[in-house]
Amino acid sequence: MGQLEGKVALVTGGGRGLGQECCRIFAREGAKVVVADLVPEGGAQTVQLIKDAGGEAMFVRADVSSSADVQAMVKAAVDNYGGLDCAVNNAVRSVGRHSFAELSEEDWDKTIAVNLTGVFLCMKYEIRAMLARGAGAIVNVGSGNEHASAPGIAYYIAAKAGVLGLTRVAATEYGAQRIRVNAVGPGSMWTPLLRETAARDPSHVEFLQNLTPLQRLAEPSEVAEAAVWLCTDSASYVHGHTLLADGGAMLGSLSGYAKPGGPK
Ligand SMILES: NC(=O)c1ccc[n+]([C@@H]2O[C@H](COP(=O)([O-])OP(=O)(O)OC[C@H]3O[C@@H](n4cnc5c(N)ncnc54)[C@H](O)[C@@H]3O)[C@@H](O)[C@H]2O)c1
Repeated sequence: MGQLEGKVALVTGGGRGLGQECCRIFAREGAKVVVADLVPEGGAQTVQLIKDAGGEAMFVRADVSSSADVQAMVKAAVDNYGGLDCAVNNAVRSVGRHSFAELSEEDWDKTIAVNLTGVFLCMKYEIRAMLARGAGAIVNVGSGNEHASAPGIAYYIAAKAGVLGLTRVAATEYGAQRIRVNAVGPGSMWTPLLRETAARDPSHVEFLQNLTPLQRLAEPSEVAEAAVWLCTDSASYVHGHTLLADGGAMLGSLSGYAKPGGPK
């Protein structure tokens, strides 16, 4: 018997990477899963993975920066599965690294639209569905970086810091209505994007590993386990929290002492 038997879970950006792993683990725990993504191919693959393992899932094409799409996405969960219990807001848009002076205003607008406004829109309509249900659990995906800094990704860190704020305010507003709101802060994960970077520039991975006390990068499933756990009753008193699943990377970033044999 899974920990989320009979529940309905929604994951944005569920077509690959961390989102796909969250979908897979929700299904393993017995939830019916709404896989939402901008790209139908990845979403269809996630649904197939879940069905092949005996689970239940459906795909909804949704751009999280569109209010109409987000409303239709949540409605699909309610119409097809009867309501919404759990949601992981995970979708992300990246435009690479650009210093402040070089970042175009267009790139700023389109990344903030997905990475910050998208999370707000998802939360707004997920919360409405959860209020109708009488309870719920939301997990926003941060990055860990919002607690520190990194060059060239102001648009990303600003959005993730905003997501932290949305998480805290929603937790304050909706705890009394039995909606728990938390965030997960992943360290660097072996997603397809990182594998491409690693093939081009192995020293980048070495750099990230050296910042991480566990001295390795995460498999997406290791972070997804934390995100799904936050939605289970095992986390029933965890609320307004950001759970770092980063191998201690934040300690390394802040202290510079992560590498064994590093500065004394
Ligand atoms: N990869 C890492 O090392 C890392 C580190 C820290 C935090 N994170 C965070 O983890 C989350 C997942 O990262 P990932 O590496 O798995 O990402 P990814 O790029 O592999 O997957 C993102 C998914 O989001 C979808 N998407 C993009 N724009 C969308 C939109 N407008 N509407 C709906 N879906 C959209 C994409 O199609 C894709 O399936 C993100 O929130 C990211 O910021 C990742």
